[in-house]
Amino acid sequence: MAWGKRKDLLGIEDLSREEIETILDTAESFKDVSRRQIKKVPALRGVTVVNLFLEPSTRTRTSFELAGKRLSADVINISASGSSIIKGESLKDTACNIEAMNTDILVFRHSKAGAAHFLSKVLKCSVVNAGDGAHEHPTQALLDLYSIREKTKRIEGLTVAIIGDIAHSRVARSNILALRKMGAHVRVAGPATMIPAGVEKLGVDVTYKIEEAVEGADVVMMLRIQQERQGKNLFPSIREYSRFFGLNRARLKGAKKDILIMHPGPINRGVEIAPDVADGPYSIILDQVTNGVAVRMAILFLYSGAAL
Ligand code: CP
Repeated sequence: MAWGKRKDLLGIEDLSREEIETILDTAESFKDVSRRQIKKVPALRGVTVVNLFLEPSTRTRTSFELAGKRLSADVINISASGSSIIKGESLKDTACNIEAMNTDILVFRHSKAGAAHFLSKVLKCSVVNAGDGAHEHPTQALLDLYSIREKTKRIEGLTVAIIGDIAHSRVARSNILALRKMGAHVRVAGPATMIPAGVEKLGVDVTYKIEEAVEGADVVMMLRIQQERQGKNLFPSIREYSRFFGLNRARLKGAKKDILIMHPGPINRGVEIAPDVADGPYSIILDQVTNGVAVRMAILFLYSGAAL
């Protein structure tokens, strides 16, 4: 097992290929726990995990909570509206107070890029980045890798098309870094206003046509338009966006027969993905969610130091 003691998981940028493989292999060993009648093992008994989510979340927060509970950790959830941040307490003071209760792992989501890095320097406990602005969402990329590997038995050599609002997507950035480290070819596609300048330097091909992105791809990853992070309208209308960049059955006509359709969620049906594609035979969107629990169990286990 390639695992030294790491305090924090801040981004895919910091992980080696071997460490990524260790996380995926560890997740594999935990996946079975969630299929049992009694979905619990004692691996993290006595460990305290706090989920501090200062931005909305359904999948990430719930799966970290389930992951911790299935490993027998004590898990506490704090949201922005339920915290004293709304009374004027600073982020640093909030985090230090949480740590003062002998917290072992802080799982943290924030709307600003770099917020998890900031807390990692302030705190002695482990910090796991659950999404920081448009910067990184490492645990999403890891569960995406896991889901691809589960279906295709490999990642190296695959062609993965990431389509949509690349510029504002932390999922796109973490997935590009992760997929390139694992030897996949990555294409990105979207309107020119949603493709960041210089993205080619990350080792990806760029196209502005969804048909070119889908052609010959093994995996297509659709992204939501990140309206909460866009300062202005980057496309004339949702209808226009859907017409030019929405994935529908017609656009899958020339696709590989065993193509995988992915989406990190939340999906906007009828915008970036048609309902019959989201629910169709190539979609592994809900498998991604299922796998999120196993991957986050692996992350809590490894970053708690229980594996050492
Ligand atoms: N994919 C993802 O991060 O979803 P949530 O915002 O619901 O956690």
